Amino acid sequence: MATDVHRPVTGPSHRADASHRADTSYRAATSRPADIAARDTDGTGPTPATVVRVDGLTRAFDDRAVIDRLHLDVRAGEFVALLGRSGCGKSTLLRILAGLDRDIEGTVLVPRRKAVAFQAPRLMPWKRVWRNVLLGLPGKPERAVAERALEEVGLGHRSHAWPKTLSGGEAQRASLARALVREPDLLLLDEPFGALDALTRVKAQRLVGELWQRRGCAVLLVTHDVEEAVLLADRVLVMDEGVIAHEQRIDLPRPRDIADPRFAALRTGLLERLGVETPSTADAPTAPSAATPTPAAATAS
Ligand SMILES: Nc1ncnc2c1ncn2[C@@H]1O[C@H](COP(=O)(O)OP(=O)(O)OP(=O)(O)O)[C@@H](O)[C@H]1O
Ligand SMILES: [Mg+2]
Repeated sequence: MATDVHRPVTGPSHRADASHRADTSYRAATSRPADIAARDTDGTGPTPATVVRVDGLTRAFDDRAVIDRLHLDVRAGEFVALLGRSGCGKSTLLRILAGLDRDIEGTVLVPRRKAVAFQAPRLMPWKRVWRNVLLGLPGKPERAVAERALEEVGLGHRSHAWPKTLSGGEAQRASLARALVREPDLLLLDEPFGALDALTRVKAQRLVGELWQRRGCAVLLVTHDVEEAVLLADRVLVMDEGVIAHEQRIDLPRPRDIADPRFAALRTGLLERLGVETPSTADAPTAPSAATPTPAAATAS
């Protein structure tokens, strides 16, 4: 897997090693994290098990450090959810990982093949859906490439449609298809379900979970929805004061059941970390199944 290095800066514990640029020796990110043995022995760079390495990352706006010497590793095939109060810097971090913001200090190593989907699908209204899916791809990819990705997100029948004729959920799936045709090793999602109604949101969450399992890419999902994070992620991070202030591993088996008391305990713990008052785990109402729409109480902003 080839990597991108964004403005490497030599730090005391980290070498900005130019060899990372040409490193194509990573194992393809098709295995689940548990299958991959960590090979990070010298602490100097990403290993076959690491697709993202961020070290000492700082991003300031008008002399205010929104991200302040942040450290983050993401393993191949890992699903990571990122929570944090509004304005704490989640989207800023995601944009940096996507290579959309390079005005940074510190070291950021990411796979070259990465894709990003935002809360708004950002489809070009003057291009058919399939052309939107191929937008920005190098070369002259064939329509069939777009149609395969659209099929994968259940939108094959809308390939020839104009974006304005799509529902919100369909547009979001088209945006996902556009990310998938890039065959990313790292999929960056910034509140992709934020604007969807509860039922569509549950379906979209399931779809992302399935795509992740099928594709085996690493995912970094920014969300305000604690339940969504616990439902989907291997690891949930809470960002605060410019750093990853808390990390919670989610070891529950999949598919996850929000009625499971362990699920409720994790959700409550994370909400408390976010400063949201909740009824105790024991008092928390239980839901009948994972398909139940997200309760508003589980959403922090
Ligand atoms: N281009 C910019 N110029 C100045 N300030 C910026 C810029 N981009 C982001 N900021 C500021 O950086 C902080 C973090 O913004 P960011 O969008 O990363 O927050 P966020 O955690 O994604 O919030 P939300 O959950 O509301 O989406 C905010 O205070 C924002 O105003
Ligand atoms: Mg944001």
